[in-house]
Amino acid sequence: MSLPDPPMGMLLELTHRCPLQCPYCSNPLKLERVADELPTETWISVLEQAAALGVLQVHFSGGEPMARRDLPVLVRRAAELGLYGNLITSAVNLDRAALDVLAEAGLDHVQISFQDVEAASADRIAHYEGAFAKKRAAAELVRTVGLALTLNFVVHRHNIGRVPQMIALGEVLGAGRIEIANVQYYGWGLRNRAALLPTRAELDAATDAVHAARARLRSRMVIDYVVPDYYASEPKGCMGGWAQRFLNVSPAGRVLPCHAAETLPGFDWPSVRTTPLADIWNHSEAFARYRGTAWMPEPCRSCDRREIDWGGCRCQAFALTGDAGRTDPACALSPDHALMAEAAGEATRPAPDFVYRRYGATVEPVAG
Ligand code: SF4
Ligand code: FES
Repeated sequence: MSLPDPPMGMLLELTHRCPLQCPYCSNPLKLERVADELPTETWISVLEQAAALGVLQVHFSGGEPMARRDLPVLVRRAAELGLYGNLITSAVNLDRAALDVLAEAGLDHVQISFQDVEAASADRIAHYEGAFAKKRAAAELVRTVGLALTLNFVVHRHNIGRVPQMIALGEVLGAGRIEIANVQYYGWGLRNRAALLPTRAELDAATDAVHAARARLRSRMVIDYVVPDYYASEPKGCMGGWAQRFLNVSPAGRVLPCHAAETLPGFDWPSVRTTPLADIWNHSEAFARYRGTAWMPEPCRSCDRREIDWGGCRCQAFALTGDAGRTDPACALSPDHALMAEAAGEATRPAPDFVYRRYGATVEPVAG
């Protein structure tokens, strides 16, 4: 049997520690303890194995990857291996000294998450006083030291009306790319869905704003836009297909086909502590289970989009139907599609309070 194509990108969740408490956090419901995090030498081995496997891009993420003191060592090894290095950060601890060290180590790109463009709202969503001001200052520094910059905005009913201002901030800060990503509703996001899901009219206005900005900024800034599946008729091709382009390593070393895969029951996730990365990618049952099209039920099996969207998102199928092997309910052809319309009704009701995400004692809560 032939081996699968190698992955393009790898996300390293170096830690689940994080100073922010976003109510749509994509980390698993059960966070990993510092004592369980991989040591530096294992992360270096993971980078070396990834490069040998054919990975081209490595994303240093978390939690907050800057909570790891060995981040510059890992960035340097990735650069030596020819891997394109991207830091995905909340940026609240990204000062000039830290940036100089990372740039000198060979970092290529920084992605900063913003919770909103209005400081009070942004700080409330992150549950961190002064977060917005720190992020803005850090974004300016990224451009000052000459690194490529992406701004990431996760949008929902509390900020989706300000998409034009988000794009304007990206222009002011010299970002080459901006991501406007609607919350994806699994894990912590699912827990807060009633507080976060926008209405159809709010989503349509945001979509119009993105299209207008794309036409205006065509050669100056790339705008990525992820819509919430709750108003879709065709699902997104999540991760470019299960275990086809991407892998994710958790702080403790479990290897996953996507960041939310630990929400799925019935898997014995392989670990870099015991198994070579190439064996996991090429031969593990967990990665093979939903790879390609052989696993698909109808209507996917006989659908001419099956190699375009790969049946949608396995984590969303599980979150909504309890079975990760069903067609994503975002698809209008799914027998479960009515679940999306039912859930979308939450968007027209008053929003409940956020249930914030907390990591032990590392958070700095704000009042209110
Ligand atoms: Fe995609 Fe399956 Fe829907 Fe076809 S039936 S569009 S393959 S999710
Ligand atoms: Fe896991 Fe879509 S997030 S497959």
